[in-house]
Amino acid sequence: MGESKKQVAVLGLGRMGAALAGALLGAGHDVVVWNRSPLKAGPLLDRGARLAATPAEVASADVVLSCLSTYDTQQPVLAAASPKVLVNLTSGTPAEARSTALWASSAGIEYVDGVIMAVPQGIGTPAAQILYGGSSAAFAAQRDVLAVLGEPVFLGEDAGLAALYDLALLGIMWSTMAGYLHALALVGTEGVAPSVFTPMALSWLSAVGGFLPGIGSQVVSGDYSTDVSALDINAAGLGLLVETSRAQGISASVPAALRELFDRAVASGHGAHAIASVIEEIW
Ligand SMILES: NC(=O)c1ccc[n+]([C@@H]2O[C@H](COP(=O)([O-])OP(=O)(O)OC[C@H]3O[C@@H](n4cnc5c(N)ncnc54)[C@H](OP(=O)(O)O)[C@@H]3O)[C@@H](O)[C@H]2O)c1
Repeated sequence: MGESKKQVAVLGLGRMGAALAGALLGAGHDVVVWNRSPLKAGPLLDRGARLAATPAEVASADVVLSCLSTYDTQQPVLAAASPKVLVNLTSGTPAEARSTALWASSAGIEYVDGVIMAVPQGIGTPAAQILYGGSSAAFAAQRDVLAVLGEPVFLGEDAGLAALYDLALLGIMWSTMAGYLHALALVGTEGVAPSVFTPMALSWLSAVGGFLPGIGSQVVSGDYSTDVSALDINAAGLGLLVETSRAQGISASVPAALRELFDRAVASGHGAHAIASVIEEIW
């Protein structure tokens, strides 16, 4: 690593924190770790990490990464650590990120807020996208360290933006997974195994993904005209899905929530419009 070797501290050695520290060790950085339960540090110490007995012992590190379960659990640890440069990778709300940025500023700490769009097993690979906001100077100065963890994407000086993107993207993930689980339950009522259905679901998801840029453009323009598929047809289809789910003896809670939303948009006069018009019932 030569001259770019840095002393990097990692606060929190849960599933994600341990993966972050492991990737940094693999890249040759001088890694110091702290965790409430110090025994979890064992495998990292075997690989050359040093154990801080208290958060205060990481204060002199070039950069401190924090990855605890929540902001509430994190704040006393950060206050004790008093880092020079803090990269906060604990998940939270935009408001929590912004108030932590304010706290950091008042304490003279350079602050970058990050969210990890990956699982621990993906850390250290280019497939791990990590979104950042906050101090652009601190981000630029620590880019070499952050690039070890995954693909770094800087969103801007607003420290709350990464958390906003995180929740928006996770919302897509959760609704997709809920839709998939509902589909498995529905075809499962007729004995169709996930292994048979999933390849079709994947191909369908890829086609659905292709609709997103067009939907986004319509949201921007406010022109909801369509020669493809009107909202009332889709709302009726959702009604069929709710009815069939109940008839097959499974919960209709996932499609029923969507039907309620689509029906409201139809009642507001968007029946002949494209699906993009549903956003008028959301914002
Ligand atoms: N795992 C993922 O796939 C993933 C993906 C993206 C983002 N994240 C985010 O990364 C963060 C950590 O997730 P994780 O999966 O690593 O969770 P985890 O395995 O449950 O680890 C939680 C960490 O928080 C520490 N902690 C909890 N309560 C504490 C307290 N009161 N005081 C001090 N330390 C405390 C734990 O210490 P002990 O070891 O002593 O319990 C541990 O280091 C979360 O914000 C999560 O949303 C995780």
